Amino acid sequence: MSNQESSNTATNKKVILSGMQPTGRLMIGNYAGALRNWNALQHTHDCLFCVVDMHAITVRQKPADLRRTSLDVAALYIASGIDPEKSVIFLQSHVPQHAELAWVLTCLTYMGECSRMTQFKEKSEKHSETVGLFTYPILMAADILIYQADLVPVGADQKQHLELTRNLAERFNHYYSDTFVVPDPYIPPDGHRIMSLQEPDKKMSKSDSNQKSTLFLTDSPDEIRNKIKRAVTDSGTEIRMDEARPAVSNLLTLYQIATSKPMADIEAHFAGKNYAELKSELADAMIALLEPVQAEYNRLMDDKTYLEQILKDGAEAARRRAHKTLRKVYKKTGFVPAFS
Ligand code: TYM
Repeated sequence: MSNQESSNTATNKKVILSGMQPTGRLMIGNYAGALRNWNALQHTHDCLFCVVDMHAITVRQKPADLRRTSLDVAALYIASGIDPEKSVIFLQSHVPQHAELAWVLTCLTYMGECSRMTQFKEKSEKHSETVGLFTYPILMAADILIYQADLVPVGADQKQHLELTRNLAERFNHYYSDTFVVPDPYIPPDGHRIMSLQEPDKKMSKSDSNQKSTLFLTDSPDEIRNKIKRAVTDSGTEIRMDEARPAVSNLLTLYQIATSKPMADIEAHFAGKNYAELKSELADAMIALLEPVQAEYNRLMDDKTYLEQILKDGAEAARRRAHKTLRKVYKKTGFVPAFS
């Protein structure tokens, strides 16, 4: 099966799968690198979006926090425009087939493939070096392959994981015969790597210990204004994109994300202006972008029954699809079908 082929024959639409870890509140990097594109793609693709709670426990989580953040992330998907009528929204732990496929794929993965992963190297410096942290990208491959996804919209930091996913799909197809669609990453040209407001050579992260570094989707207008005001800047005064000046480039990218204007127009607009003006206009644009998201998020959090119903329906739909692939995989692997 080639990755050119549409894998949902019922709808004739290409399949998309993506997810986010509920390891903290979602932030503007998650929106710029992923959510924004999920939003646009859901009109033309057959989309599944999961909250990857099983990935979150590769780093120690307080159970009460994980429960709260998982629902929070699901609500923010919807508040940012993911329409549950169009897309399947669910929690990873509600679909056991992800973990089952992950085991089969684990047995096809070489130790060296996991130990090469940049994210593993970075995370194992900060957290306990568990086997879960090591095999994490295999579970991610299973998330994608179990739905025969054609396309995976993510930020640039996930590229290496996507390469492993492709390799595992090809390896399984080669060894057992064509089974999996080999998925392509979908990495946006702009906003694929939003940097920290305090350390612009480091990517913005939802779990940064310095909260001033990160613009959360649920930050109040005052918090947004303050964080942007205190964002570090580079030397030089010109306001334009420049690789050698990561701080100003990051602020301009954020302005582009908030306004959806072409970068050339933005640079022309800020020509001759100073950092204070850029920061003030960026704060206004960011507040305007996030206001409707926050209003919808608050409404959803006040109506947990609605949210739970969406996640229940989503999990049922996802399980049906995942079951089909897993049955095929188990058969090809040589497992005797369960006796009924
Ligand atoms: P996670 O939870 O770290 O991030 C969720 C999404 O946000 C993107 N992202 C960023 N984009 C731009 N700038 C940033 N500073 C930034 N930080 C994060 C990420 O690239 C991602 O698209 N392993 C994944 C979760 C995952 C997944 C999957 C994704 C598990 N299974 C299957 C896609 C398909 C992760 O840790 O993302």
